[in-house]
Amino acid sequence: MLVASVLSLKGGVGKTTVTLGLASAAVHRGVDTLLVDLDPQMNATTTVFPEPDPGLNGQANGQKRRRWSVADVLDDPSRKVIDKVIKVSAWGDSLRILPGSERTENHNHPDPGSKSLFRLAGALAKIDPAPELVLVDCPPSLGQLTRSALIAADRAVLVTEPSLFAVTGVQRALEAVQTERLAHRSTLQPLGVVINRFRPRVTEHEYRLAELRDLFGPLVLSPVLPDRSAVQQAQGASVPIHQWPTAGAREVAQSFDALLDRVLRSARSKARR
Ligand SMILES: Nc1ncnc2c1ncn2[C@@H]1O[C@H](COP(=O)(O)OP(=O)(O)OP(=O)(O)O)[C@@H](O)[C@H]1O
Ligand SMILES: [Mg+2]
Repeated sequence: MLVASVLSLKGGVGKTTVTLGLASAAVHRGVDTLLVDLDPQMNATTTVFPEPDPGLNGQANGQKRRRWSVADVLDDPSRKVIDKVIKVSAWGDSLRILPGSERTENHNHPDPGSKSLFRLAGALAKIDPAPELVLVDCPPSLGQLTRSALIAADRAVLVTEPSLFAVTGVQRALEAVQTERLAHRSTLQPLGVVINRFRPRVTEHEYRLAELRDLFGPLVLSPVLPDRSAVQQAQGASVPIHQWPTAGAREVAQSFDALLDRVLRSARSKARR
């Protein structure tokens, strides 16, 4: 099992898009995968596990409905709770999900005495049957939830847009990875930096890409992800990008195939050690 956590310092740069794109490539290839939605905004959950709205306070048809989520696993990472929370996604049997919830925000507050930082790592080790790949979508901060995701991870996938604050954002995210690696998770390594929403021939984008390559060298992953409206269309329709029938979607899907190859190669090198 290889755990890859997708993070960024800044919001809205494409963490969920990268998580979903890798999940789509994994489904396309039949790789047994678990998606963990640690973001209280729960955008990834809405896309791969759309559920009817249970109404206010979870009450539907006058009956109380419990919406189990990864917040329950962070409260109590026991096998019993994990089995209740884990669901098969709407994208196919090979993709399971620990759905997100607004309640996950309760685990994002700094609390040095709390053991909850280690609960995700503990829970993932208990999943039976263990998936080949775990993808963790993080919230837009380097707070407690992202730290939990790093402590549970073997690889960190950093995401940025080719913009003004990209360098500082990547630097701070790499520092966070390094801190958790030294303190809590010796197998954790940065897989690299995904540059998202790249537009060739836009001078600012070309300049920022060159700057990032200059500073971070081989950590800047190839290919960069192009800016394509198909990404938003497929997400809006809750459909894997590999099934969206446009040329733009095919181009993005191929980029995710290449990124998944990179993730799986590093899974094999982890297994050899
Ligand atoms: N390559 C792309 N081409 C076109 N649109 C994109 C691309 N990547 C992301 N988007 C769009 O940009 C928006 C933000 O992307 P996304 O939700 O993946 O970012 P995020 O980092 O997960 O955000 P948050 O920090 O709020 O969790 C979404 O509407 C998404 O569809
Ligand atoms: Mg997101």
